[in-house]
Amino acid sequence: MRYFKALIFFVGSFLQLQAQETAWSEVQPGIWKAVVGKPESYDLLNAAGAEPNIGALAKLGGGPFPFSKNEIDFKVVDGETYLRFPLEKGEQLYGFGLNFQTVHQRGKILELHVDHYGGKDNGRTHAPTPFYVSSKGYGVFVNSARYIKVWAGSGVRKDSPDFPVPKDRNTDRTWSSRPYSDAVEMLIPAEGVEVYVFAGTKPLDAVKRYNLMNGGGYLPPRWGLGFTQRVMTRFTGADVENEVNLFEEKGYPLDFVGLEPGWQSKAYPGTFSWDKERFPDPPAFVKKMLDRGIRLNLWINPYVSPEAPFYEEIKPFTSSHTVWLGLIPDFTMAKPRELFFGQMQKDQVDIGVSGYKIDEVDGYDHYLWPDVATFPSGISAEQMRQTYGLLAMRYSAELFKKRNQRTFGLVRASNGGGTSFPYVIYNDYYNHEDFITALINSGFAGVLWTPEVRASKTGEEWLRRFQSNVFSPMAMINAWSSGTKPWTYPEVEKQVKEFALLRMKMMPYWYTEFAKYHFEGIPPFRAMNLEEGFNQELKKESLTNVNLEENPYAEATSKEIKDQYMAGEYLLVAPMFTGQTSRKVVLPKGKWYDFYTGKLAGEGEVITVTPGLDKIPVYVKDGGLIPMMPAMLHAPKATEKVNLEIRHYGEKAGDYNLYDDDGETFNFEKGAFSWRQIKVERQRNGQMKGTISSSEKGKPNTVGKVSFIFMTK
Ligand code: GAL
Repeated sequence: MRYFKALIFFVGSFLQLQAQETAWSEVQPGIWKAVVGKPESYDLLNAAGAEPNIGALAKLGGGPFPFSKNEIDFKVVDGETYLRFPLEKGEQLYGFGLNFQTVHQRGKILELHVDHYGGKDNGRTHAPTPFYVSSKGYGVFVNSARYIKVWAGSGVRKDSPDFPVPKDRNTDRTWSSRPYSDAVEMLIPAEGVEVYVFAGTKPLDAVKRYNLMNGGGYLPPRWGLGFTQRVMTRFTGADVENEVNLFEEKGYPLDFVGLEPGWQSKAYPGTFSWDKERFPDPPAFVKKMLDRGIRLNLWINPYVSPEAPFYEEIKPFTSSHTVWLGLIPDFTMAKPRELFFGQMQKDQVDIGVSGYKIDEVDGYDHYLWPDVATFPSGISAEQMRQTYGLLAMRYSAELFKKRNQRTFGLVRASNGGGTSFPYVIYNDYYNHEDFITALINSGFAGVLWTPEVRASKTGEEWLRRFQSNVFSPMAMINAWSSGTKPWTYPEVEKQVKEFALLRMKMMPYWYTEFAKYHFEGIPPFRAMNLEEGFNQELKKESLTNVNLEENPYAEATSKEIKDQYMAGEYLLVAPMFTGQTSRKVVLPKGKWYDFYTGKLAGEGEVITVTPGLDKIPVYVKDGGLIPMMPAMLHAPKATEKVNLEIRHYGEKAGDYNLYDDDGETFNFEKGAFSWRQIKVERQRNGQMKGTISSSEKGKPNTVGKVSFIFMTK
């Protein structure tokens, strides 16, 4: 026994020694990787298969390694990997996945676990991306497909260099149940792991590097940024046509229609085949819709019914367990992929279906496979849970990629590595306030999120939800069970229509901002904390008279802003919630202007606004340029030219690069795109004047006549 203990001690010390010598290699400028212990061969990055955008990363350039290396501690103990990164006083943390209730993560204890969000920010969520960003500007990513435990600044070690002075609770009212912690600690149930560190002087730098390492965001087709209605589960082809007619008659925009489980002959588990009663001639139906400018998106969950045409063939390549009695294909293996995605291709994609909604790849536990399930590839149930959404997105996206056709759909689970997939996350949770916080956090998790609209108790709620939905990655009504239409609440119908049309008018802006997500890694929807000049203002407000030495948490506990966000380069969106008549808006440094009127709203200050029902408060940065097009009912076709009306706000000169390409194919990857420079400058006579650079020869050009509006008089 004694020898045994000695041996353990020896091995332990060896591993510790090894850990201290962990080498960091700069894999891309400003991105370092360390290999701790023996990482598993299956991880988030290889499940996602994402390729870095090397050119864009090189353009960003490098930067110094953000820590002193000996402040970092890694070791493998008891078959698990322990990681520790330092935290400084006043530092705040963001990220650790798609949280719904909090933006500030310092002090949190989490277990990162793919699941349907259950109402608590405890790590169980649709995209528990093991990536965090510090207010100091750097980022950290752990490339593991395991459930990762995180103590984001909660543990206090006795050898901590910043060990706080113990206080007497009996007499000292400043005693705290949560004394100061100076480290982020993580435990990964595996004998090793790859860790990445991202340089940055501000948090957006680290976010950009993380996104670009994963290929950058997906560039959606233009139609993906239009409006989408998901119809009731058991709608027939005729019902869908009827609905499309109504949208047209009433003048509401519509780019794609989502068919819910009833398009399949059986669902939960599914057959992945059309229901021939509801849809007697799918190719003719799909074509008819396409001819009218309407694309179709099909709901699936990946669990295979005995009545699916490939059931017997796929059976040997599925899990030991089932979901709703359907087989769970092992998507890490080629054969089941061929069978599963092959069916989707020949039955749906080849006849013109434009995308999918991939449901229930996240949780809940009571219907997904348990952790004791096995998969034929040998990938564990836990790793499969963490990556099933990634795999489903990856291989369904390929169906479209090989046709040189862009898609844009919905999914309920993603994870680290999933940035470049054409999917937006949604769920059943339906809390408007928390939906906005999720939108904020999506920008830290390398994913897109939609605060979908389903049904509402009142017209007011309907309108408030609709207004935020228009300022999100996917403008969608999910009426799978309620059957609601945009015009269902007559008392707010006028306003709803105005916002649906506004979404369309803003398409040139949205499209360019998504292009920046793709080419530069900047999330189109993101936290105020990523906006320069934001923190300073908050500090001014909440940190006056605070001594960081006495209260090291001060900045970290400064008020978190979780109900307003940035939409693209220039817009600040501050949603209104049911029952609210006024709200506070924190305007970062510089001047901000009302989106609707162009009037000055404030400058680096907290304002209180009373917008009335008709408006969701939106503000534009000084010098902001918002390119807009006419309110079309469908996205423009690939070669269609549209006129632009470019709005300029404020006093400063404006400078914006407008992205243009065919809006539908991947030809942009071979150079078929352009950035047109828009400029607004003040003339000698004091008047503003706008110009746009001419189109490049041989490049797609969808810009018709250009006019400028100077919103600030
Ligand atoms: C839910 C999903 C809904 C809807 C429904 C259909 O799980 O989140 O959006 O698709 O399934 O059964």
